[in-house]
Amino acid sequence: MLTDERTHEKYALNDFVLIPRYAVLDPVLTEGLPPFITATTGMDALTHAVEAYIGKSNTAQTIEDSVAAVKLIFRNLERAYTDGSDMEARENMQKASFLAGAAFTRAYVGYVHAIAHSLGGEYGIPHGLANAVILPYVLEAYGSSVYMSLAELADIVKIGQDLESDQEKANAFIAEIRAMNRRMGIPDKLEGIREDDIDMLAKRAAKEANPLYPVPRIMRKDQLKEIYYQIRAQEERK
Ligand SMILES: [Fe+2]
Repeated sequence: MLTDERTHEKYALNDFVLIPRYAVLDPVLTEGLPPFITATTGMDALTHAVEAYIGKSNTAQTIEDSVAAVKLIFRNLERAYTDGSDMEARENMQKASFLAGAAFTRAYVGYVHAIAHSLGGEYGIPHGLANAVILPYVLEAYGSSVYMSLAELADIVKIGQDLESDQEKANAFIAEIRAMNRRMGIPDKLEGIREDDIDMLAKRAAKEANPLYPVPRIMRKDQLKEIYYQIRAQEERK
């Protein structure tokens, strides 16, 4: 990623020569990572897997990889957050991060990332934190276009098994993401978004995502603006 320091826009840089031949996955290298960074970067990996899975540019391989990543993250992220020296959990999170990365490199991301990049570029809001907060709101905004795919993910991680409809299961999956955030001390709104900037930020997010990202439902600038209002922490009046 590159940030234009003049305009505060964030861009993804891509080229075949940038694709690595090897990835070194050594959990010892992540052992000293503070719990909050473990939590937010783990939720970034979950966002990669979920956005790849619900998008419309999947292959058999990206489906397999994103499903494996979602399973690993649900089983290991909170373990790694709670006990930073749990090396099995850290190793599994590295695997998950790799698989989710492989999935989205082929199947792309969606509006969660487009919105997060606008906030990272403009205000320096950390990428993992932004994605963790934004993910449940964007999944809700996708509405019926993601009921089936989120219900599939809910079944895979055994959430809402007593529920009947895809819609109920999708909502249970989104509720579980919110609960994971809460248990790991991640807020449900983001500080620092200026109301006057929202139009410009939504325009940038729309430009990044449309038409490149194979999102389940296309949203225009005005629909994206609503999401910025939802995720924005209001200043407390004194
Ligand atoms: Fe990301």
